[in-house]
Amino acid sequence: MPFEFKINSKLLNITINSAQKAGKILKDNFLTDYKITSKTSLNDLVTEYDLKAEKIIVENILSVFPDHQILTEESDPKLSDSEYKWIIDPIDGTVNFAHKLPIFSISIALFKEDQPLIGVVFNPITDELFYAEKGKGAYLNERSIKVSNLSNYMKALLVTGFPYNSDKNPMNAIEVFGKVIRKGIPVRRLGSAALDLAFVAAGRLDGFWEVGLKPWDVAAGMLILKEAGGIITDYEGKDFTINSQSLLASNGSIHNDLLGLINGGH
Ligand code: IPD
Ligand code: CA
Repeated sequence: MPFEFKINSKLLNITINSAQKAGKILKDNFLTDYKITSKTSLNDLVTEYDLKAEKIIVENILSVFPDHQILTEESDPKLSDSEYKWIIDPIDGTVNFAHKLPIFSISIALFKEDQPLIGVVFNPITDELFYAEKGKGAYLNERSIKVSNLSNYMKALLVTGFPYNSDKNPMNAIEVFGKVIRKGIPVRRLGSAALDLAFVAAGRLDGFWEVGLKPWDVAAGMLILKEAGGIITDYEGKDFTINSQSLLASNGSIHNDLLGLINGGH
């Protein structure tokens, strides 16, 4: 269903157009047979559609901004003197995509130096487009979104994810999960960090934590979350950057309680 974008900007229009072009090929081919290979471990996957979607996005952006820098999940970075850098995940949630589970997204961010200017996270199956431009708020399709106003963390609905090397327990990922579960707090594991951030931004979820994420998993979602009034830090409570090794995102009101829970005893 076409809808009117709530922010009128050339940069955002190009970002959304790139996500929608890639989204069409992902949606059209989602239920077909395609080539799937492993990367760093047996379950760290890439499909032929990660590569095809990435190519569409990169070509679309470079046709307008040939000198901009590009950082993507599946290809070598394109470096230049430009202060603008696009950070792209053609499919965030590749394992879901490969299993035909319709929870995945295209994530595209534009940074100027180290500051995010634009963030777009698009699920082409549900046709949900989350987007933000710095200082202009966050949106889901035609409506403005805000984080939840929940203040009692014991009543929260949280989401998390696990790195592919969870067997080595980086940053006590499994213990931290246990601490939250033992409190009886409901936790989901959806499989797309970009959507996890967008869902906290939209108030569907109240908080999200994970370790070991990559810049392309979080670059767009972090701006959408902040523009929706949320807070994002590392486990020490320091400002989150795309290179941080730990991530805690929340509606703000429950942030300190969640930091205490992650860092506390049992
Ligand atoms: C993955 C997803 C997942 C997270 C993994 C990421 P990918 O990204 O964001 O939710 O738990 O750590 O690697 O590989 O599907 O682009
Ligand atoms: Ca990916």
